[in-house]
Amino acid sequence: MTVQLPRKVTRKVFLSTSSKVVLGVSGLLIGNTALFYYGAVHGKKMDDPAIREIPSSFVKVGQVEQLRAMNGYEKVYYTATIEDAWVKTQKQGFVYVTKDENGALVILSSACTHLGCSVEPATEAQRNRKKDLFFWCPCHGAEFDIVGASVGMELPGLERYQPLIIEGNVYVDIATPKK
Ligand code: FES
Repeated sequence: MTVQLPRKVTRKVFLSTSSKVVLGVSGLLIGNTALFYYGAVHGKKMDDPAIREIPSSFVKVGQVEQLRAMNGYEKVYYTATIEDAWVKTQKQGFVYVTKDENGALVILSSACTHLGCSVEPATEAQRNRKKDLFFWCPCHGAEFDIVGASVGMELPGLERYQPLIIEGNVYVDIATPKK
């Protein structure tokens, strides 16, 4: 019968083994802390399929086919929740959906680029008086065309939102208008 003699644990072997154990445990703790942090911030578990849901700052403005067939414009009211780190802000308002000369959807902020009042669609009489006029601002009279460009004034155009097409619907991310 052979007897296995216990291996001599040298100082070097002891330090090497114990540091591997410490590193392993720390990695596990850091990983779990990161997952816990993510879950706490987002209120979800990492394996929760709801993580793939549409963000709360996205607003549905309509169905692609319906909007492509539209004439003129659509006024779409929205309520969105914008999350910035730990701060959630609810935003309400409306956007205008129009089309450019090539038929591409254009989604415009309703905020006038002068001082922020809401622009309104011009009346037929106003449009007949001025070529290209489509929206106007009742506060101080700024005017914009159907794609939001300023008409006859030195003002930036209305902010636009990128149309995002998800399963046949058009969404915009209210948190990130394009200038
Ligand atoms: S706020 Fe629109 S013209 Fe002044």
